[in-house]
Amino acid sequence: MAHILVTGAAGFIGSHSTDQLLRAGHRVTGVDNFRTGHAANLTAARTSAAFALHELDLTTPGALAKLATQLRPDAILHLAALVSVPESMRQPDLNFSLNLQATHEVAEAARLAGVPRVVFASSAAVYGNHPHLPLREDAPTRPVSPYGAAKLAGEVLLLGHAAAFGFTVRCQRYYNVFGPRQDPASSYSGAISIFARSYREGKAVTVFGDGRQTRDFISVHDVARANVLATTRPGLTSGIANICTGRGTSLLDVLDVFARANPNVPHPQHAPARPGDVQHSIGAPDAAEKELGFVAEVSVAQGLRELIGR
Ligand code: UD1
Repeated sequence: MAHILVTGAAGFIGSHSTDQLLRAGHRVTGVDNFRTGHAANLTAARTSAAFALHELDLTTPGALAKLATQLRPDAILHLAALVSVPESMRQPDLNFSLNLQATHEVAEAARLAGVPRVVFASSAAVYGNHPHLPLREDAPTRPVSPYGAAKLAGEVLLLGHAAAFGFTVRCQRYYNVFGPRQDPASSYSGAISIFARSYREGKAVTVFGDGRQTRDFISVHDVARANVLATTRPGLTSGIANICTGRGTSLLDVLDVFARANPNVPHPQHAPARPGDVQHSIGAPDAAEKELGFVAEVSVAQGLRELIGR
């Protein structure tokens, strides 16, 4: 049994990762500032004696290091973040503090508390626009948003700390994660969560651009499993791996599934493409298989069926 400190535990990926860690018999201490996380996401986790939750702001200097020094966890799973590309463009300062300064606090917590492993929620957004897909981890990184830039800087910061101070860092470059508990509350939310709510409420969705943009959509259940492997699998060395399926699906194909299940909902409206949006994004999943033993198992069709509830 390992003890994992999860930042952003009340969030979408954080709560699913917490649930899977607990189900696998591990102990979890969650931290969250509840900026975008919800206590309700942890309803199942709170019934476990192996779970504890602390309200904590990661940008408070030394706060996480203090907690980590008390707890001495086996790993920190760092998921707390500002998760939206357009939000990072409207609020670069907030992106800097939540995605980079907070990651420095995690690196320092690992150093000061002697935590042997950190797993970092990085992103496919570090790559930017590339003509040749799928992308492997050695593709040049050319982020086109403050969000992608901060995620890339976070990787570099953690890997440098790890090499200097002798801990292991796994950078998980998530592609487009979707599934239950993804919050559709703002225009910054993930496309599938917004589509699911709009169709449920009988409202037309807005498609930015022509809808032919593709994404490597991956179920949150798979992502949580990749996080369990990265935090608890013995013998891992530092490195970077895409967490993806290796397959691209267009927004139009996703919308088709929703439209068939909800035939009376008005057709989508189109609006100009969002600044900073990449047109196509597909990852090569081989490194995660080789280094973590991770292969995505949930298809987009299965994942959408779960959301639509049939
Ligand atoms: C997403 C993630 C980001 C992650 C990245 C990795 C979210 C909120 N963002 O960014 O954290 O690092 O993948 O690849 O999960 N769209 C619409 N209508 C809408 C909403 C979105 O057409 O109502 C479009 C967007 O313009 C975009 C596509 O859908 O072209 C996907 O958007 P979104 O779900 O926000 O994800 P990414 O920007 O790809």
